[in-house]
Amino acid sequence: MQVPERVTICEVGTRDGFQIEPDFIPTEQKVEVVNLLSEAGVPRIEVTSFVHPKAVPQLRDAEAVMAAVRRRPGTRYAALVPNDKGAARAVDAGVDAIHTVVSASESHNVANVNMTIGESIDKLRDVARIAARANVPMQCGISTSFGCPFEGDVPLDRLQGLVARLVDLGARGIGLADTTGMANPRQVASVLERLMPRFPGVEWTLHTHDTRAMAIPNILAALECGVTNLDASIGGLGGCPFAPGASGNVCTEDLVHCLHAMGVETGIDFDRLVAAARRVEQILGRALPGQIIKAGPSTRRYPVPDAVAGRLKAS
Ligand code: COA
Ligand code: ZN
Repeated sequence: MQVPERVTICEVGTRDGFQIEPDFIPTEQKVEVVNLLSEAGVPRIEVTSFVHPKAVPQLRDAEAVMAAVRRRPGTRYAALVPNDKGAARAVDAGVDAIHTVVSASESHNVANVNMTIGESIDKLRDVARIAARANVPMQCGISTSFGCPFEGDVPLDRLQGLVARLVDLGARGIGLADTTGMANPRQVASVLERLMPRFPGVEWTLHTHDTRAMAIPNILAALECGVTNLDASIGGLGGCPFAPGASGNVCTEDLVHCLHAMGVETGIDFDRLVAAARRVEQILGRALPGQIIKAGPSTRRYPVPDAVAGRLKAS
């Protein structure tokens, strides 16, 4: 299997995950989780989003979180923004990178950000100007890239056209998001095989949700296409409040375990990452969807039962 030697993981749990939690998570606990993740060596963190506080009340403390986070050199602290107002707030809060959001399907874009795709693109042009002036990179995520919960299939021509517009307005990276876990590995490969050669120089990120248990298979398909940037969420938190049926992202510790087992480097300290996931479980007061936190890594060994040992000795 041809996979990259190293991949860069962007942790999105404190944004994609915390945004859909039923209860508001206190600011100090959000900050604590971000710090635990950076101390585990996570190279990129999408800390929060600068959106309308009425749309996503769970992240209404975005400024306070950004201000309190302990900045570790080597970690890039990003935030999600839908428009110019969000970008200005993010820059004022000192983000290292701006992640934008637009959907590949009109109905999801209106549900999510109350704009048509065309209106979103106009706003993102302003976002690009704000990002350039502040000298922070802009990465544009495309929701419903592999299918929309309202409209179904998203034509590849339309997706390609949207990528072209985002690259034109200054996107350094493009994130293809499978918002409600509709993608399959063959589809991921065919989309990437079509898009990657057409936009040389673009940094591609795959953003997966494990809604239908296909996140890691989809990631493996993307790795084989040469994608080296992956979004993931601690504990497998995550989901879009404006997409019916959305559930958690691929679980960071499960993904890191899988990558390390295959010899793919991430720069992340696995044990510290698992400890961070345990702390998130404690904060939320419930078990999370991740598997590794329950099963332990594949290197885990159990003592041989006495009866088995006796039988082995006798033989
Ligand atoms: N942050 C804070 N306030 C914002 C804002 C932002 N990023 N963008 C707009 N506003 C304010 C405006 O200043 C205006 O305030 P006023 O009424 O006091 O003048 C008000 O919101 C309405 O502005 P408008 O541009 O008409 O926004 P809207 O009501 O159509 O909402 C979004 C558009 C994008 C701001 C809103 O839908 C949103 O925040 N969506 C979040 C989507 C999301 O996070 N989804 C999950 C992640 S994918
Ligand atoms: Zn998502």
